[in-house]
Amino acid sequence: MKCKVCRQHAVIDVRRHNAGFCRTHFLDHISNQVVRTIKEFKMFGPDDRLLVAVSGGKDSLALWDVLVDLGYDVTGFYLDLGIGGYSTRSKDACIRYADGKGAKLIVRNLRDEHGYTVPELSKLARRAPCSGCGLNKRYEFNRAALEEGFDILITGHNLDDEVATLFGNVLHWNTDMLGRQAPVLQERILTAGHGAQKVMVKKVKPLVKIAERETAAYALLKGIDYVVEECPMVEGNTQHKYKEALTLLEEASPGTKSQMYFGFLKKAAPRFAAAPEDDVELTACAGCGAVTIEVETGEPMCSFCKMKALAHRRRADSLPAPSIRKPRT
Ligand code: FES
Ligand code: ZN
Ligand code: ZN
Repeated sequence: MKCKVCRQHAVIDVRRHNAGFCRTHFLDHISNQVVRTIKEFKMFGPDDRLLVAVSGGKDSLALWDVLVDLGYDVTGFYLDLGIGGYSTRSKDACIRYADGKGAKLIVRNLRDEHGYTVPELSKLARRAPCSGCGLNKRYEFNRAALEEGFDILITGHNLDDEVATLFGNVLHWNTDMLGRQAPVLQERILTAGHGAQKVMVKKVKPLVKIAERETAAYALLKGIDYVVEECPMVEGNTQHKYKEALTLLEEASPGTKSQMYFGFLKKAAPRFAAAPEDDVELTACAGCGAVTIEVETGEPMCSFCKMKALAHRRRADSLPAPSIRKPRT
């Protein structure tokens, strides 16, 4: 196969574009796709302060690399989830990348911030590791971006991630989630209480046009030393099963994933965004001030604070009761 641009030997074929690319033109292709996505969905401009959430894996490091090479001043953010050696190796990959590229990296640790790791939280809250992990990551990414004064939070979700999420949301008819599934989630300002306060930073996903296989190829061709292993807690994750099913369909008919995802954004997403059940009253969480839903009775608590409180309560309940000595008579 030859490169679509220069007719030299192609190192990769992208079947949904019916095209092969040599190294140089494949790297250009990825960079151009990111640029087009940023423009098309009005993600950010050159003056915005950008924070990219990095996991040490191929997607987030490739995205960071593309953005740095495009000249953006973008800081990395790594959250250590405390998943044994996997977290240590992931953190090291981010530090190595940042050092090699001269990029800024912020590292935080879930245990230092909240007193538990993801495996501990999963046991205490009795939830699948990935669900507690996802909630904590979303919360901590947003908190870090707000606290450190960033305008935009960037994540490395690629086409495969987005289409698998869409597939799951359709299978279960999660209409509220379908209403929120977009490459851009706008910032949220709460005006109640003590004046206007930004509680949710704008979130963007510049890799939505790029497949997982292509971010891996990009990272490999650029010599990015990413963590290849999967998170050990991902076993049995339904999102993975959806990805496998969709990849079978993509192999039989290239372009299926992209048609499903971008067809949804164009033709169906606006209907879900306008769903009346989305039209709920928002307020600040009594625990942390994050945005949450107004409740009729009791204090409003966001789902993160509820989970954290439950974990700490269960941990306290599991500790042996302090022994009480009888006073000597
Ligand atoms: Fe979150 Fe594995 S990275 S559970
Ligand atoms: Zn070429
Ligand atoms: Zn809260």
